[in-house]
Amino acid sequence: MTKIDITKTELVWPGKYNEDGTLKEVPRVSLPFQVIETVNESRATREVKEKEGGSLFDTYKGTEGDTFEDGWKNKLIWGDNLLVMGSLLEKFAGKIDLIYIDPPFATGADFSFTTEIGESGEEVFKEQSLIEEKAYRDTWGRGMSSYIEMLYSRLVLMRELVSRTGSIYVHVDPRVDFLVRMLLDDVFGQDQFRNQVIWSYRTGGATQRTWSQKHDTILFFTKSEDYAFHTQKEKSYTKSASRKPGVVNYGAGTAEFFEDEQGVYNWVIARDVWDIPYINSQAEERVQYPTQKPEALLQRIIEASSDEGALVADFFCGSGTTLAVAEKLGRRWIGCDLGRWAIHTTRKRMLGIENCKPFEVLNLGKYERQYWQGVTFAGAKDKPITERALYEYLAFVLKLYGAQPVPGMSHIHGQKGKAMVHVGAVDAPVTIDEIGAAVDECAKLKQKELHVLGWEWEMGLYDLMVEAARKKGVRLLLLQIPREVMEQQAAAKGDVHFFELAYLEAETKYPKKLTAQIVLKDFVIPNTDLIPEDVRSKVKKWSDYIDYWAVDWDFQNDTFMQGWVAYRTRKERKLPLSSDAHVYEKPGKHRILVKIIDIFGNDTTQAFDVEVK
Ligand SMILES: C[S@@+](CC[C@H](N)C(=O)[O-])C[C@H]1O[C@@H](n2cnc3c(N)ncnc32)[C@H](O)[C@@H]1O
Repeated sequence: MTKIDITKTELVWPGKYNEDGTLKEVPRVSLPFQVIETVNESRATREVKEKEGGSLFDTYKGTEGDTFEDGWKNKLIWGDNLLVMGSLLEKFAGKIDLIYIDPPFATGADFSFTTEIGESGEEVFKEQSLIEEKAYRDTWGRGMSSYIEMLYSRLVLMRELVSRTGSIYVHVDPRVDFLVRMLLDDVFGQDQFRNQVIWSYRTGGATQRTWSQKHDTILFFTKSEDYAFHTQKEKSYTKSASRKPGVVNYGAGTAEFFEDEQGVYNWVIARDVWDIPYINSQAEERVQYPTQKPEALLQRIIEASSDEGALVADFFCGSGTTLAVAEKLGRRWIGCDLGRWAIHTTRKRMLGIENCKPFEVLNLGKYERQYWQGVTFAGAKDKPITERALYEYLAFVLKLYGAQPVPGMSHIHGQKGKAMVHVGAVDAPVTIDEIGAAVDECAKLKQKELHVLGWEWEMGLYDLMVEAARKKGVRLLLLQIPREVMEQQAAAKGDVHFFELAYLEAETKYPKKLTAQIVLKDFVIPNTDLIPEDVRSKVKKWSDYIDYWAVDWDFQNDTFMQGWVAYRTRKERKLPLSSDAHVYEKPGKHRILVKIIDIFGNDTTQAFDVEVK
């Protein structure tokens, strides 16, 4: 074993150093982002920007400016923050003014959530999904050392993203704060330590055997000595009964005293112990996310450590508390989370903020899958996919689906029981033609059932293809390849479930000249057996499965641009099933895209080609 040269006090964990004593490199991956949804931006603004060289395509090019006036759009990114931060480095290294993170602690509560059903809002607890479970296992699989390793690699990337005058606040549980403090010393430098903030609260249980544990720690570090900081003041109540409101001259200076219902006070520089209540069950800001933090906490941090217009990021954003406060305080923001439900909750939360600025939802989509295919089957991310690698990819997906490869066919790749199986490519949606060819091959072989597995789908193929296949005597099932396929541990455990695509039915109405309106008629999750019984039993009608739906009135076959939206909130459980009428400027043909997000956070879209007169 090579000797490791330790020259300073540092935290060491298994796997920090290579066998030859060198520090293990933090994995860095840079992939292009895909914009999957744009919210609160008018098509007109976007088209103007496009003419000026902005991005209208589904791949984020980062050509926007650094201010809202220059076209900056806030960003909500769905994915693992290690890949996401690596990919942000190219455009955002040294550009983020403030990072707050609240990484998951060993409770696992981050990944489960309570979903509410229908108008009554009956609650059902949803267990974490497989990918979330996998992230949880990665974080805690080897206990504290995997937690530390997970956080260390992320902190290294965060340091590169923070601006010269920027800060980072890391929210930790008291059980690990000493370890995280050492990690931050290591990554940011001991000299850059500014505060250990104690957030003190009163809610939650207590034990008879210890002092009641009622605080979290927030570690505050900066990138340099020259950091942005706006001193915050707090009220300091005097105990002296004789003190009256007014100015007091102490000789060395004066102090002004005021009075409120709690007594006489003056303003002093805020301490590093913050008494901020946890969010109560009735609080307006509560969004039913188990680890949601109070906005008042983030308000202090953001007001103190950033200026208006500054860029604030949270790479473990959960329900989006940091982003909501940043939005309200006129900061720009980037948020990231791995969980589908976290992204959905945040999107809804943002929409509830009055005058919320335009934002976009991004992921690494097909690029992440191509990267995975390259690394897993071709031996490296940039090696070309040979026929052999492609075969291995197909065999791997088929195996996870419980099917056998069938060689020698053009469009049929496998067989599961009596059903033939076709597997879509990682980097392109399954098309109508592709399914048509597989159905024809099936019919030729006198096979009666075809299962098509896909990562992404061409618009509107459900109605068309299921019926067309039926006419050819083939029962067609369309199944979603889940993200877990790319997760080694989940795949190794056989923890992978393929769900049938849900579909929606809607009617287009034309209430007046030049208008169109969408009326939802049905939403079907084909295989309800896969839905937990406690959810199924509470669902009274098809619309109870819908949490949110939105319409893009002029879909350009790229990003979904939200034009009209309706969603349930804790207070307002009713969901309209008819949209408002949209007024077009002139007669013509348009493609309308309707998107439903169900109570599990999954989305289903359907395109409708219309002609307004
Ligand atoms: C403690 S919660 C954050 C709660 C948040 N502060 C709020 O107020 O809602 C931690 C979040 O980190 C997310 N997470 C865990 N591992 C992640 C990863 N590798 N990449 C991105 N997000 C991750 C979880 O999905 C969870 O939502």
